[in-house]
Amino acid sequence: MSVLDISIDALLTTTRSVRKRLDLSRPVEPEVIRECLELALQAPTGSNSQGWHFVVVTDPHQRHALATLYRKGAAQYIELMAPVFQQRAAASEQEATTLARVFDSGQYLIDHLHEVPVHVIPCIQGRTDHLPIVAQSSLWGSIMPAAWSFMLAARSRGLGTSLTSFHLFFEQEAAEVLGIPYEEVMQAALIPVAYTLGTDFKPAVRKPLESVLHWDRW
Ligand SMILES: Cc1cc2nc3c(=O)[nH]c(=O)nc-3n(C[C@H](O)[C@H](O)[C@H](O)COP(=O)(O)O)c2cc1C
Repeated sequence: MSVLDISIDALLTTTRSVRKRLDLSRPVEPEVIRECLELALQAPTGSNSQGWHFVVVTDPHQRHALATLYRKGAAQYIELMAPVFQQRAAASEQEATTLARVFDSGQYLIDHLHEVPVHVIPCIQGRTDHLPIVAQSSLWGSIMPAAWSFMLAARSRGLGTSLTSFHLFFEQEAAEVLGIPYEEVMQAALIPVAYTLGTDFKPAVRKPLESVLHWDRW
């Protein structure tokens, strides 16, 4: 598969959450997904446990079923978070603009998820429910680096992704749709994957490093 001619720093700063610029009409070859997952398998896991699994969903009926759960989950999330978002939007005009952009882009994905050609669901053996923080860290930390590696590898091959979580409001229902053994295996996210419309993406505006950096002590 062809790899974009961009520097490592450019890759790390321009791997954005892509929603509106997904090419919903272009098929994604299974080989490119496999290639990106091979790279993801180089990520670290606690004690090299490699309890990860990756469910790749291309079947239109399965994607439809997941999109329905995603849409229901999004509605719950928006209801749950409404007071927080209102507070954030009231804080400054810039914050309000940022939130409006994320909502607009998020709504596009809600409306079109079933049309995205591939969904990748990274999973981890075990469940964090009621575990102490160290065990939670170990499980989440044994799947999220691989998920992000997959997204970077995808970006390097002209594919767009975004890490999403809304469907997890209905994780058990999604497990039933996909045949995932829910009691033993936890879904960590749902990553829609498609080729992007154009390959140029810009670094995001983030809080300045100085506002979040704590050197030697908080
Ligand atoms: C833990 C986590 C969960 C997320 N869940 C969703 C989601 O369910 N749906 C969605 O559209 N984006 C989701 N996102 C993507 C964020 O909205 C995204 O990172 C944010 O819009 C900033 O985009 P940027 O990274 O391109 O700057 C999630 C991101 C993270 C890290």
